[in-house]
Amino acid sequence: MARPTILLNRQTIAEHIQIASVISAIERAMADFERGNDYLPPKAIYQLPVPAAFAACIAGYTKAANLMSMKIGQERTHNVQRSLPTTNSWIMAFEPESGELLMICDGTLPTMYRTAAAAATGIRHLARGDASTLAVIGAGQLGRQCVRAAVATRSFDRVFLHDVVPETAQQAATELSAQLGIFIAAVDAQVACQEADVIVTATNSRSPIVLSDWVRPGTHLSCMGADLHEKIECEPKLLPRCKIWSDQTEHCLQRGEVSQAVEHNLLSRDCYVGTLGQLINGDSDGRSSDLDITMFDGVGIGIQDTTVLRAIYDQAVEDDLGVRFAFS
Ligand SMILES: NC(=O)c1ccc[n+]([C@@H]2O[C@H](COP(=O)([O-])OP(=O)(O)OC[C@H]3O[C@@H](n4cnc5c(N)ncnc54)[C@H](O)[C@@H]3O)[C@@H](O)[C@H]2O)c1
Repeated sequence: MARPTILLNRQTIAEHIQIASVISAIERAMADFERGNDYLPPKAIYQLPVPAAFAACIAGYTKAANLMSMKIGQERTHNVQRSLPTTNSWIMAFEPESGELLMICDGTLPTMYRTAAAAATGIRHLARGDASTLAVIGAGQLGRQCVRAAVATRSFDRVFLHDVVPETAQQAATELSAQLGIFIAAVDAQVACQEADVIVTATNSRSPIVLSDWVRPGTHLSCMGADLHEKIECEPKLLPRCKIWSDQTEHCLQRGEVSQAVEHNLLSRDCYVGTLGQLINGDSDGRSSDLDITMFDGVGIGIQDTTVLRAIYDQAVEDDLGVRFAFS
């Protein structure tokens, strides 16, 4: 008999799953993916004929999670004026052999979790051992989770937050500093970048924020916000100074931080040292000196959703969370 579908909202996920619990699962998933057991179809991106309206369909299957996931994401940059979130998504989880629909849940928080976990995995494997100052550029949904994931991965003495809306950065700094018990201050972009050993970018900007002159030798950057070709967070002339790893190279060459630099002939298509999964598996070189500037270019891949979804589904079954619904 078919299992009922679990319906789960964002609040229930937030109450029962913490970001720190998914970081090592994401790290393992990125390594497993390189061993060829999983399935990652191309992302489908749709630009709607209404202002600033994008949708994405992202799927994945992983053998380790024994799950197939399908996510529909929506981005509406103008939602700021409507006091609505700029990004929203919903995910479905399927049993791979029977095709049963096991769960439909909020996809926004799982997306923030898996993306922040990937950013933190980049920090774990690429930042200098003595890195002690973190800068997070963008203090929205993703930026806040990136702070949580980064400090769960490394101990940072100082965290600087920057947002184009200063009140957003100030509010995030106050809340996160109280929750995490560490020094977090809202500052301008130049101070954040110049002081940082590690920079995480998490904005939806269409123009560069992190200027090359502000980035010191030895810095690590996890660049997560630019997940469309139109988006950019780092000044293009910074990129040739960096050693760069992708989450999945073909996906990154189509969109994200590197794609525009390749289009403008500042970088070649073979600019990546490797993928983060290859690095974790020991199949790619890593940082070779304390003077290297390293960059993890993460545009987000479906197998990360699948991995987080397995943790959420198991928790929902174990704790009888959400609502059970039979479609037939
Ligand atoms: N790589 C991935 O896998 C992945 C996953 C999820 C989201 N994203 C992307 O991450 C970005 C952030 O998503 P979110 O849900 O946190 O959005 P959000 O709207 O909650 O937050 C974005 C923040 O960036 C700030 N910002 C915009 N332009 C800026 C600039 N020029 N300088 C400084 N701050 C600026 C905004 O004020 C806002 O606070 C989006 O582009 C989203 O598509 C990527």
